[in-house]
Amino acid sequence: MTDRSSLVDLRSDTVTQPTPAMREAMAAAPLGDDVFSADPSVNALQEKIAALLGFEAALFVPTGTQSNLCAILSHCGRGDEYIVGQQAHAYRWEGGGAAVFGSVQPQPLDHAPDGTLPLAQIEAAIKPDDAHFARTKLLALENTLGGKLLPFEYVQAATDLAKSKGLQRHLDGARLFNAATAQAALNKRTDIRAEARRIAQCFDSVSVCFSKGLGAPIGSTLVGSREFIARAHRIRKMAGGGMRQAGLLAAAASHALDHHIDRLADDHALAQRLAQGLEGIEGLTVEAPHTNIVFVDLTGAAQARSSELLASLNQQGILATGLYRLRFVTHLDVDAAGVDRAVAAIRGFFKA
Ligand SMILES: Cc1ncc(COP(=O)(O)O)c(C=O)c1O
Repeated sequence: MTDRSSLVDLRSDTVTQPTPAMREAMAAAPLGDDVFSADPSVNALQEKIAALLGFEAALFVPTGTQSNLCAILSHCGRGDEYIVGQQAHAYRWEGGGAAVFGSVQPQPLDHAPDGTLPLAQIEAAIKPDDAHFARTKLLALENTLGGKLLPFEYVQAATDLAKSKGLQRHLDGARLFNAATAQAALNKRTDIRAEARRIAQCFDSVSVCFSKGLGAPIGSTLVGSREFIARAHRIRKMAGGGMRQAGLLAAAASHALDHHIDRLADDHALAQRLAQGLEGIEGLTVEAPHTNIVFVDLTGAAQARSSELLASLNQQGILATGLYRLRFVTHLDVDAAGVDRAVAAIRGFFKA
């Protein structure tokens, strides 16, 4: 196994190390006790992200999972339900938290191939006001979903539909700025923050992660109205998310907002480079990436060699996840040379 410096870690964009400048910002952060709402760095971050996305208030939380939990439990009560995608993190990957902690029932729907939840299915899933049914209170979308950008016209239509039916709308925007970067490129616009705001404004609440493409070590924020955030604050406390001198972490997140949004396009370009590098290998079907996540399906005889491939890559200091569907994620700590090494190693494996 190679040392960390030569590792090409494509497992996730969560694996990044804070940059020296981020560490400096953390070390210099003024601190207080955030449980008394007295940490200036946390307060500054909350104000910054709320203003950036056009909301009244924000709440800093340790994880994206806790952010989604606080959101769902603030929108829904016991016996309510939320409509959500089968593949959504807030349904499939969070230990059933909304049901476990809030007695909130998920109503999962299948995704269309582009990641959307078809409008007709959303409408059909909204239950009438009848004692037989849970009360449908919330539509939860995710953007990007598995690295896919949801078409903006779809986001508008789905959230308009939800509003017209009296539902609240939550976005798991763990990778909102990746979505905004891709959407800006698609529309030949350059203001990524404006694009993020455009997406976020379709929702009543949005969860944003700093520990993914933005490169901070820890932290997410939930944004919404003042009243909604007051409810979420109470739930965060119950979930054990009141973190005292959390300004150390908020300063890293704040630094990421100031310095790491405009470089996300580099990660997307590296994902394209990786996808293009893997084109034409027999037994690999490469999904063209919208953002920083590349999925590669192994088919035919290549499928049987999946574990062997991952082990061989691992031996060469190249890390990825998956089995028959491999996932490669680009981020702050991967460069073009690393991507080229990964491509060469995969090509070499299938030649052997
Ligand atoms: C889309 C999405 N939402 C939420 C989360 C949860 O974030 P955390 O791992 O910080 O709980 C993740 C984590 O990978 C994610 O990909």
